[in-house]
Amino acid sequence: MNVKKIMVIGAGQMGAGIAQVCAQAGYSVVLNDLKQEFVDRGLAVINKNLSRQVEKARLTQQQMDEFINNLIPSTNITDATEVDLVIEAAVENMEIKTKIFKQLDEIVPDHVILASNTSSLPITEIAAATNRPEKVIGMHFMNPVPVMKLVEIIRGLATADEVYQTIEDITKTLNKIPVEVNDFPGFVSNRILMPMINEAIFTLYEGVATKEAIDEVMKLGMNHPMGPLTLADFIGLDTCLYIMETLHEGFGDDKYRPCPLLRKYVKAGWLGKKTGRGFYVYE
Ligand code: CAA
Repeated sequence: MNVKKIMVIGAGQMGAGIAQVCAQAGYSVVLNDLKQEFVDRGLAVINKNLSRQVEKARLTQQQMDEFINNLIPSTNITDATEVDLVIEAAVENMEIKTKIFKQLDEIVPDHVILASNTSSLPITEIAAATNRPEKVIGMHFMNPVPVMKLVEIIRGLATADEVYQTIEDITKTLNKIPVEVNDFPGFVSNRILMPMINEAIFTLYEGVATKEAIDEVMKLGMNHPMGPLTLADFIGLDTCLYIMETLHEGFGDDKYRPCPLLRKYVKAGWLGKKTGRGFYVYE
C-alpha cells in the first residue's frame, strides 16, 4: 500500500509530535483538531522543536521550512477523504474514539488505513465500530514523540497482515523502531510501566521513602532517565489512573488496583506537569 498523505487527528502533545515526525519524513500531513486554536498550538510546538534543531545546526532553515510546508492545518474531519492513512491521537476515551472511527469509516475511501495512538484502549473494540476492522491498527508512539525511538504496533483481532506490514514500513520511514504486539489491556508498554509507577506511588503512600528518594533509587540504581514519580507527572496522573483502571478492569486482578494516593491527587486536580502540580510542583 502506497501512503503519501497522512492525517493526524488531535494536535495535543502526542498528535503534534506525530505530525512533526511524519512531516520530517517527507509525508504531507493534515493536522486536524476541533478548533483552530488547538491546531495553532500544535503547530507552535512543532515550530519551537524544529527551531531548536536549527539553532543547534542539526537542520538548515531551508529543511525546517520544507517540513513546515508539509503540514496542512485542518478543523474539518472530512479532509480525511484526501489521505491514505489516519493516525488518531485524540483523548483517551472509548466513546470519543469510536465516534471518530465510525465517522472516518463512512467518509474515507476503501484503501485508507485507520490507526489509533491509544495507550491502552482495545484496538479490536475500536475496529468493531467500523466496517473495515482489517484496516484498523494501533500505532502507539511514546512521549516525547520526536525523541523516543519506539512505536508499539498493536494488531487488533482482525488486522490484516498487509496492513500490519504497511504500518511497520511507515514506522521505519519515520526513523522509529516498530515492535509488534497483540491486543491485550495495556499492550506491552503500559502493562509493565504502569504497575511500576503505581508501585512507586504505593511506596510513597506507605511512607517507605520520600518522593525524591524513590526517584533517586530508580534513576541511579536502575539507570532510568527519570524516576517513576517524575515520569508519572510527565505522563499525567489522570492518564496513569486511567491506564491502571483499564488494566484492573481488563484482567480483573487486584495486582493492578490503583493506589488510593493516585486517585486522591487526580481528584484534587493535581495532574502533574500539565497542571503545574503533581508529585512535584512546577513553576
Ligand atoms: N519534545 C521534543 N524534544 C524534547 C522534549 C519534548 N517534549 N523533551 C526533551 N526533548 C529533547 C531535548 O531537546 C534534547 O534534545 P537534544 O539532545 O537534541 O538537545 C533531548 O530531548 C534530551 O533532553 P534534555 O537534555 O532536556 O533532558 P533529558 O536528557 O532528561 O531527556 C527525556 C529528556 C528524553 C524526556 C528523558 O528524560 C526520558 O527519556 N525520559 C523518559 C521518557 C519516557 O519514559 N517516555 C515514555 C513515557 S510513557 C508513554 O509515552 C506511553 C504511554 O502510553 C503513557
